[in-house]
Amino acid sequence: MWAQEPASGPCRSPSQHRQTAKIISGDGLLTDTFSTPNSDFADEFPSSEVVGIDLAPTQPSWVPPNCRFELDDASRPWTFDDESFDYIHIRWMMGCFEDWVRVYKECFRCLKPGGWVEHIDCSTVIRSNNNTIPEDSIWTDWTRAFTEVANKTGRTLRIIDDDIYAGWMKEAGFEDVHTKPIVTPIGSWPAEPRMKEIGQFNKLAAEMGLEGYVLYLMTTVLGWEYEEVQVWLAKVRQGLRNKSQQPLMTW
Ligand SMILES: C[S@@+](CC[C@H](N)C(=O)[O-])C[C@H]1O[C@@H](n2cnc3c(N)ncnc32)[C@H](O)[C@@H]1O
Repeated sequence: MWAQEPASGPCRSPSQHRQTAKIISGDGLLTDTFSTPNSDFADEFPSSEVVGIDLAPTQPSWVPPNCRFELDDASRPWTFDDESFDYIHIRWMMGCFEDWVRVYKECFRCLKPGGWVEHIDCSTVIRSNNNTIPEDSIWTDWTRAFTEVANKTGRTLRIIDDDIYAGWMKEAGFEDVHTKPIVTPIGSWPAEPRMKEIGQFNKLAAEMGLEGYVLYLMTTVLGWEYEEVQVWLAKVRQGLRNKSQQPLMTW
């Protein structure tokens, strides 16, 4: 999602979301967290200054000279001056904040007039277009489990669903707010080669990240035993390999 569209159009393609928009006028960029996207962005726009923030010190030291990282909690008042950035990028921060309007208000304050914020997140709802996912499938359970976690922690995971975040952005003061849902497959079931490749990456990312996504939340927030989580994860892995299902996730 982005508020106000630069002439070049910020969302070039799903695979480029990590780098996203052209810098509009200039010299300041704030991107959320993380190494490679920020470094890539800094390489692509060498006259810009790129700042990435994250709670955790996971960033590499080998970065372009115009890129730096700061450890900070983005849910608290930001340390940056008013009107100091042309562009702010947020990706995959679902569940990180209790109050998104507050975060967007900081974006608004720190953006120069005419600047842009672009936020890319995903839905926890996994569905199919052709009824290949039954109501009692692990994917329905997946959504139910994450919804329960969100309800208990007060950190909603419903961000892009029903364009909720567009409302929060407007509440924070943004005008000219656009949303663009991008539906991607999970698994290699699509016939079309590009979608098949995206699906393979989605499946790989899910398989590799699965335990990390859920173990802490399910044991501490939902009170599950470690063994219960492992059984549940095994069902999700089975779901990922189930060739009769054609799951889709939305970004
Ligand atoms: C799912 S990762 C996404 C990382 C990156 N944006 C991407 O798209 O690859 C979420 C990141 O948010 C960071 N994070 C969580 N809460 C945060 C907060 N309150 N302020 C800043 N960073 C936070 C975590 O440390 C983690 O690196």
